[in-house]
Amino acid sequence: MWLKSMIYSCSEKHVKEAALCLKRGGLVAFPTETVYGLGGNALDPGAVARIFEAKGRPEFDPLITHIADLGMIDILAEVQDSRVYELARYFWPGPLTLIVPKKNCVPDLVTSGLPAMALRMPDHPVALALIREASGAVAAPSANSFGYLSPTTARHVEEDLGPRIDMILDGGPCRVGLESTVLDMTGTVPEILRPGAVSLQNLEEVLGAVKVLNRREEIPRAPGQLKMHYSPRKALYICDDLNSVEDKAHSGALVFSNSEKGRGFGAMEVLSEQGDMLVAAARLFAALHRLDISPVVRIHAERIPEKGLGRAIMDRIYKASEK
Ligand code: TXA
Ligand code: MG
Repeated sequence: MWLKSMIYSCSEKHVKEAALCLKRGGLVAFPTETVYGLGGNALDPGAVARIFEAKGRPEFDPLITHIADLGMIDILAEVQDSRVYELARYFWPGPLTLIVPKKNCVPDLVTSGLPAMALRMPDHPVALALIREASGAVAAPSANSFGYLSPTTARHVEEDLGPRIDMILDGGPCRVGLESTVLDMTGTVPEILRPGAVSLQNLEEVLGAVKVLNRREEIPRAPGQLKMHYSPRKALYICDDLNSVEDKAHSGALVFSNSEKGRGFGAMEVLSEQGDMLVAAARLFAALHRLDISPVVRIHAERIPEKGLGRAIMDRIYKASEK
């Protein structure tokens, strides 16, 4: 059977078509600097329901609302804390999601009934043009089926969700490659719920004290903090010494920088030959996708230093290892 490709270039014409599709309640996957998002009009509960259906995502998992203009903050959210505007001016557009009290115009389905919503302005010209041209508020989880690896190319989206969505805009590989940092601004002390490209240190420079949710000890407050998430289909083991792996021939190695460590493995992915965290983050999900479809039966991931972006990278690797 001949299947029509869902992938479209990001020409002005296609972005306009995609915006029209969103206005009519359709679903469009679009590039952001972090990962591809599966967008629907955030103010249309029918469209939001379709997102959950396409992802096979439990409806208790709240979505991030993407905006393109700072003016949308006060249209959607009830912000009392001036630090929210300060953060928005400093980090947006960029990979930071802020949890703030929502207004009634935001459907409960978007926040899964929570009184607070997640807001983010992505740093990608196509995403910004699309959001502006549509309703100004686009709900978008990562464009993968529930629990699976986040997509960093249009092809990843097509392979996973293709027939279930209306259009995929192809903006090339995502620059950052890891999902945004989620920061809860509803309490007195801001709290990181999900580490991401904006690091704890970056946030402390602007805010002073910042808490970090310890997902090993606390009950998940939002299901993105479920342990099993961002998982390849194959078992993934975190490894201090790749050399000690026994059945190398049938195993895949996820190596941080030194390709020598992957010698003898059935498949190998090196995140950054130079040991550059930015490069490693950008390549992580694509590397896991490739290992997942390679002939090996399991994946061994080398532990990497949990400094700066390394913390967010290891967070995704921990989650990928928990089944
Ligand atoms: O980089 C990103 O954030 C990407 C791109 C597409 O923007 N989006 C993304 O969305 O990763 P998603 O749905 O895969 O992850 C959203 C995270 C989840 O961990 C969810 O639990 C949390 O944000 N979240 C959303 N709304 C929340 C809320 N009201 N309170 C607490 N956490 C919330
Ligand atoms: Mg996700």
